[in-house]
Amino acid sequence: MEKFNAEKLARGVSRTFQPYVAGKPIETLKRELGLKNIIKIASNENPLGPSKKAVKAMKDVADKVYFYPDFNSTDLKMALAKHYKLTINNVFVGCGSDELIEIISRVYFNHDDEIVMSKHSFTRYQMAVKLMEAKSVVVEMKEGFVHDLKAMAKACSKNTKAVFITNPNNPTGTYNTKKEFEEFLKILPTNKYGVKPLVISDEAYCEYASYKKDYPNTLNYLAKNPNLIILRTFSKIYAMAGARVGYGLSSLSVVDYIERVRPPFNLNKFAQVGAIASLQDKSQVSRSLAHVRKEFKFIFSNLKKLGIKYIDSAGNFFLMYVAPLKGKEVFEAMLKEGVIIRAMDEYELYDYVRVTVGTRKENELFLKKIKKVLKK
Ligand SMILES: Cc1ncc(COP(=O)(O)O)c(C=O)c1O
Repeated sequence: MEKFNAEKLARGVSRTFQPYVAGKPIETLKRELGLKNIIKIASNENPLGPSKKAVKAMKDVADKVYFYPDFNSTDLKMALAKHYKLTINNVFVGCGSDELIEIISRVYFNHDDEIVMSKHSFTRYQMAVKLMEAKSVVVEMKEGFVHDLKAMAKACSKNTKAVFITNPNNPTGTYNTKKEFEEFLKILPTNKYGVKPLVISDEAYCEYASYKKDYPNTLNYLAKNPNLIILRTFSKIYAMAGARVGYGLSSLSVVDYIERVRPPFNLNKFAQVGAIASLQDKSQVSRSLAHVRKEFKFIFSNLKKLGIKYIDSAGNFFLMYVAPLKGKEVFEAMLKEGVIIRAMDEYELYDYVRVTVGTRKENELFLKKIKKVLKK
């Protein structure tokens, strides 16, 4: 009998993917490196942790876990609708905004459609587009590592179905202003379907950028721009990355089609109640934002003293320039010192590493070790 080989069955495009490689668990690293203390400031998590109210809400549902969760996450959608003064049918939710990027792709992207995005932006878009056998059109950034929205509008053709804008952008921490965003919505051309492409504004870090006066509140544009999709998450400032809750806000017709394809039960019980409680705890956002602003001052003033270049950030992470060393080498050297940061090869930023703002103690350790590794 012929030997079974799943490759023959896998879709051609699936064969070109590689499994996601996650960093090693901290406990494994401690053992391997013989270190007592290891810190992880690599994944843009919020080290202050989630709202106590969210933790209590999640604990409180633990003994009800034999029931399926609400397949529609109705209470969470209602809470989000109330929070943003929208209707429940303007809201959709997913297992992290990662899942929402995939669901949107499954609903809207077809073979040969063009999807416009910026170079050096979140890598999941390209993967979602590739899986649908659509085409990514990647546009160069303008100076200062900022999305070039004018060039992105120009890159739209008759075949363009959607444009991804990451604001603030991961991994550069840069943002597009209100003026740039409004201008972009205006100049975006119509496609062969006689409508404007979807504008997917990925705002995973928006709460951290909210202190900037010229950062756009895209909620204001929803009524006049039914093609606009706002994606947000509870993973970042709400510190619920492990619970996996993302949400989207858009027009009734965009959400209608998303709801037809969204897997039922895609948010578990813990995620649903934890997100509702987080949203209601106003202090979560204010204390986390205050922490990040204070720590950026501390970190950047020290980097300046050491003569290390960095890119100012509206998120809770920043890019640091490490040439003549390569980002990968600095990542490896820092790992040996017990500090996990991120190399940026997958974003084609080979001379940079990305660092997440930690607690004061973690930031102090990071500074001490980077000084040693970069020989400053
Ligand atoms: C820009 C951006 N979008 C989306 C996500 C996905 O977040 P999650 O799936 O945890 O909601 C991330 C996570 O790092 C991100 O940086």
